[in-house]
Amino acid sequence: MAYDPVRFLVVRDFLNFKKTNQWAEQAPEQLTKNIDRRFYFHLLQGMIRHQRLLEEEIRSRIKKPFHKLQDSVVGILSLGIFQLYFMDKVPARAGIFETVELAVPFRIFQQKGLINAVLRNLQRDPDKKSRLLNYPLPVRTSHQDWMVARWQNSYSKSEVQSICEANNVFEGITIRTKKPWNRAQLQKKLRAEGVESRLHPIADQALIVENASECFRTNAFHEGAFYVQDSSSQVFLELTESLWKGDVLDACAAPGGKSLQILESSQLRHLVINDISRNRLLKISQNIARLNLNSQMLTISDSRRLPYLKPFDVILLDVPCSATGTIRKNPDLKWTAQPATLLKQEDLQRRLLEHSVLHLKPGGTLVYSTCSLETEENDLQIKQFLENHPEFELLPFFQLPNVPQNYSPYLTKEGYFRSLPSPEMMGFFAAVLLHRGERTENNFA
Ligand SMILES: C[S@@+](CC[C@H](N)C(=O)[O-])C[C@H]1O[C@@H](n2cnc3c(N)ncnc32)[C@H](O)[C@@H]1O
Repeated sequence: MAYDPVRFLVVRDFLNFKKTNQWAEQAPEQLTKNIDRRFYFHLLQGMIRHQRLLEEEIRSRIKKPFHKLQDSVVGILSLGIFQLYFMDKVPARAGIFETVELAVPFRIFQQKGLINAVLRNLQRDPDKKSRLLNYPLPVRTSHQDWMVARWQNSYSKSEVQSICEANNVFEGITIRTKKPWNRAQLQKKLRAEGVESRLHPIADQALIVENASECFRTNAFHEGAFYVQDSSSQVFLELTESLWKGDVLDACAAPGGKSLQILESSQLRHLVINDISRNRLLKISQNIARLNLNSQMLTISDSRRLPYLKPFDVILLDVPCSATGTIRKNPDLKWTAQPATLLKQEDLQRRLLEHSVLHLKPGGTLVYSTCSLETEENDLQIKQFLENHPEFELLPFFQLPNVPQNYSPYLTKEGYFRSLPSPEMMGFFAAVLLHRGERTENNFA
């Protein structure tokens, strides 16, 4: 084969994503080597992440109107420009050569000269990186204008800039060390099996692993020494450790990261793990077995119509949401999100909150969380809930016991937990609501 099959599959799947807004989580089966699969994901994710900027660069470097360019020309040029801007490790000349050669399998031989000229000019342009700073923020960081405008209504100028920039930084999955291991031991154990990791700079028990697929093949994984859990969730659950007492319901639990961490809480009596999706719940039961945790009750039900006869001391509602706090990990959300549907879960969130009240003991604790940056799904939901439910009050996060110094930046003055996307954290929001009724011994005092 005279052309690079990995780059060919990347351009094919990038063009497919642009048409359908969908991409597969699995690498194409032709890619049998680990190194090829990693390269494929790196390129494809990066091109999706920077799609708008790449298009803008093509527009500015070609006289022909953008809409008259063939899709495959746009795809190949996007790949070439992405490598020149964002992949210092690939030597520019080799990257350009391999990219121009893709004109062969895409059968656009007559465009080879044009693709080559655009990429060589860009390679020679000494100001290319500094010129990017002239683009407005949504173009430079590749976001839809309306999305950035939305965040500008809720956050300061510098916060919006950091959110947009952080959405383009993702250096690997975050895992949580399972007791009795500590993370230094886990890091050593993974290294012995050829998997490198970094200590997470904020979350105490977290490691960042660049090469996710390899870490799932290790003995450390099969022995249950860790599970995947984003750092913002880890920090939120560590802060609320004292709340997970007595009988607890995780009402929207799958795929289960939070349930697994709640199971570490020393004062927990029983955890009911519920989700509407059977397939997603299966992952939790596999993890519970792998991590050697006590088997817990798993139920499949709609949390707007819960079947339980006995009320709970604590209910966690980690609700479905727009997930705009997770764009770092899921860059496709930048383009699949639309203004008309972004808040489509708002009503469901409200109903979940309303229904859970019926299953909480007097004096019980309701914990609400999202991975959304949108005020309507966060602060406004809580505000409205408290207006409708004078029998509840907010327990400010800053009143929780033992808040470590390095976690305090995530506690807002209104009493919420809020992490904005940063190179270390996803966007996450949480509020703790206390029922004012008589406290039972199991509730927060
Ligand atoms: C944000 S995810 C939960 C993530 C999970 N807590 C974790 O830490 O891994 C939201 C979950 O809510 C579930 N869900 C959506 N609608 C639901 C409903 N009406 N009742 C129960 N679960 C629901 C989805 O299947 C999804 O697994």
